[in-house]
Amino acid sequence: MTWHAKPSGSMKVDKRDEPYVNDALKAAWTKDILPKYENKHGALMPVLHDLQHHVGWLPLQAMAEVADFLGIPPGDVLDTATFYEEYHTHPVGEHVIGICQSIACEACGHQAILDHLRTKLDIEPHETTADGKFTLLALECLGACDTAPCCLVNDDRHDNLTIEMLDQIIDNLPSKSS
Ligand code: FES
Repeated sequence: MTWHAKPSGSMKVDKRDEPYVNDALKAAWTKDILPKYENKHGALMPVLHDLQHHVGWLPLQAMAEVADFLGIPPGDVLDTATFYEEYHTHPVGEHVIGICQSIACEACGHQAILDHLRTKLDIEPHETTADGKFTLLALECLGACDTAPCCLVNDDRHDNLTIEMLDQIIDNLPSKSS
């Protein structure tokens, strides 16, 4: 892994007129999320999760709106969203498939599974298929080392993974557009 300095000072934020953090989301977060946390920073991660659930990913404009809503520095939102792999800071496909590449999964054959998917989907990790259907990710430990190798398909973790299992899971994923 290499470190890249973020050009935050000169970063261009693409803006759309309609806010991502609309009144309905603000009302829901105020009612359901904020009361569970001692301060606004504490609510940041669940707010980002919910926003990503609604938008599909986290555009810079949306992060700035979250900062505004929570009354915290935009840089704190950006740092959090870019630190954790579970947040998507770029658009992703209809289905996100993440193969764990940490030590236990690596020892249990993650590479063969990842290579199979690279060939099957014709993309590299952190790319999306041309039809927008699948995004492939290589993830760090999913917390299920005793049942390695593991993957995440959208929000579901699958353990003791084999290539055959993964093929079956992927081939049976519903198309959200149909
Ligand atoms: S190393 Fe893959 S789940 Fe822990």
